[in-house]
Amino acid sequence: MLDQFKKDVLEGLSKENKSLSSKYFYDKKGDELFQQIMAMPEYYLTRAEMEIFTTKAMEIVESFGIDKLTKFELIELGAGDGTKTIRLLEELLKEKYDFEYIPIDISQNALDGLVQMLSEKLPTLSVTAMQGTYFNILSKLKERNEPKIILFLGSNLGNLLDEEASKFLYELGASMHTGDKILLGLDSIKQKEIVLPAYNDAAGITREFNLNLLDRINRELDGNFNREQFEHLPYYEEKEGIAKSYIESLVEQSVEIKSLNKIFHFEKGEKIHTEISRKYSEEILAKILIPTDFEILQIHTDSKQLFSDYLIEKK
Ligand code: AVJ
Repeated sequence: MLDQFKKDVLEGLSKENKSLSSKYFYDKKGDELFQQIMAMPEYYLTRAEMEIFTTKAMEIVESFGIDKLTKFELIELGAGDGTKTIRLLEELLKEKYDFEYIPIDISQNALDGLVQMLSEKLPTLSVTAMQGTYFNILSKLKERNEPKIILFLGSNLGNLLDEEASKFLYELGASMHTGDKILLGLDSIKQKEIVLPAYNDAAGITREFNLNLLDRINRELDGNFNREQFEHLPYYEEKEGIAKSYIESLVEQSVEIKSLNKIFHFEKGEKIHTEISRKYSEEILAKILIPTDFEILQIHTDSKQLFSDYLIEKK
């Protein structure tokens, strides 16, 4: 894991256009900052998806199209704290569906908290938490014959380029059977005035989240980034529909990363690209699905049309 981080930092900072992967945001500090991001007023995504799960749990469950007598698996990728999913779980229990809830996460800590919360709030729920990476676990689950509904919420797919998103969904499909479904939570394309503040909040939490990547390199790879000399730089154009984050060097400077045995040079105004957050429409998702064997079955949207949960089915 550390070796991969080292390798990726070396590669990313050695390129003409420097970049670092957003997957490295999420160390302990980054997890805490992301929790704070979800609670801030500008970050509408979490609240909009929560509204869908709160007001449309019944429609969502019905759209799964599963017979109450058929046992199925409800698998969640990157389950986190389960605040949205619990609305669905309550509805499924109330309607007496026969299912097992299988949350998957890389963080055992997150899973322990989730299982504890569910055992208190929904004691009759059957839960099997699985720690690991998505694909390792899904390939194991393929051998079971129960129908599957996979939850992939929170616009997490948005961190991938369109081509990578196609590949990811194609590979998910390889662990599924015909008729299995994914409920995919995606942020919608909309005006800059709404999207940009979500990635540039007034309290500066997103700034901290982005710059934490430099602190993480300092901590784990013995670097000497001086974060006073870098700034968070968000970007969004509605036409393109992709929010992007950069870290900009405010001065010409050199940074040493001891564990890489390297010195990196930065021009004044030079940028490190750190994240994309793709915003979607039905058309864009349809395009991404072309190289996969999924089709869009149903779209559940919040009252302000900020966010959608797409139900897609494996053909
Ligand atoms: C967790 C990937 C959905 O892209 O909106 C939040 C991460 N980055 N603020 C997103 C994030 C900056 C978030 N996702």
